[in-house]
Amino acid sequence: MTTIGIIGAGEVGTHLARAAIAQGYHVVIANSRSPDTLSELVQALGPAARAATAEGAARAGDFVVIAVPLKLINDMPVAALAGKIVIDTNNYMTWRDGHFPMVDSGEKTVHELRQEQLPASRVVKAFTHIQAPRILTWGMAGGVPDRLALAVSSDFPEAVALVTRLYDQFGFDAVDHSPLSESWRNAPGQPAWKQERQTRLELASNLASARRNTQS
Ligand SMILES: NC(=O)c1ccc[n+]([C@@H]2O[C@H](COP(=O)([O-])OP(=O)(O)OC[C@H]3O[C@@H](n4cnc5c(N)ncnc54)[C@H](OP(=O)(O)O)[C@@H]3O)[C@@H](O)[C@H]2O)c1
Repeated sequence: MTTIGIIGAGEVGTHLARAAIAQGYHVVIANSRSPDTLSELVQALGPAARAATAEGAARAGDFVVIAVPLKLINDMPVAALAGKIVIDTNNYMTWRDGHFPMVDSGEKTVHELRQEQLPASRVVKAFTHIQAPRILTWGMAGGVPDRLALAVSSDFPEAVALVTRLYDQFGFDAVDHSPLSESWRNAPGQPAWKQERQTRLELASNLASARRNTQS
């Protein structure tokens, strides 16, 4: 049985938990407060879910989702995430997160900064250009001609492979636009972020037409 640690129990964390449990995964989910504040959610998710601290979710996960914005002060359990594939769902929103000068200047992507904050983990950007509830409703069987696609980007091929399998289980094709230095191509404001429903060909075209003129 594969367990997914999920750090962040908001829109993304809870919808990914539901999608994962529907596919037979176990989940251990955390917020910034204490596990007991998640008892209602865990009850709704059923016996395949339990709540933990962020460190507990990181330790329990065979791989881990971070569904939490990147912070200037690293608030992730770095040691517990070491050696693991870490799926980062973050979109850089300056109104919410403040400014990261290296991201604003185009020197680094926000996901490269996450990778730097987690040097012993294998960070992969995924699930960033779909509204979280759609993860549960827009999936289609493999091979359907208009199946929707989602972007994936990492410096580690095994992390891309894991997300590609997960996307497929959830009903989506994958378009790999690695490495993380290229991950700005589906950042907020870019064509791939603005067009919610995209087939594999449309997403590849939108990623190719991205211009580095917005924060990423
Ligand atoms: N919403 C979407 O549809 C969507 C789609 C794609 C990508 N994204 C991105 O995904 C990320 C999550 O978005 P969201 O909409 O799910 O946010 P959200 O609804 O505001 O939830 C954020 C969650 O993160 C938790 N959290 C914050 N700091 C934490 C920490 N240090 N340790 C553990 N948990 C922590 C919060 O816990 P508390 O409540 O206890 O503070 C909350 O459960 C964001 O970066 C967003 O840009 C969102």
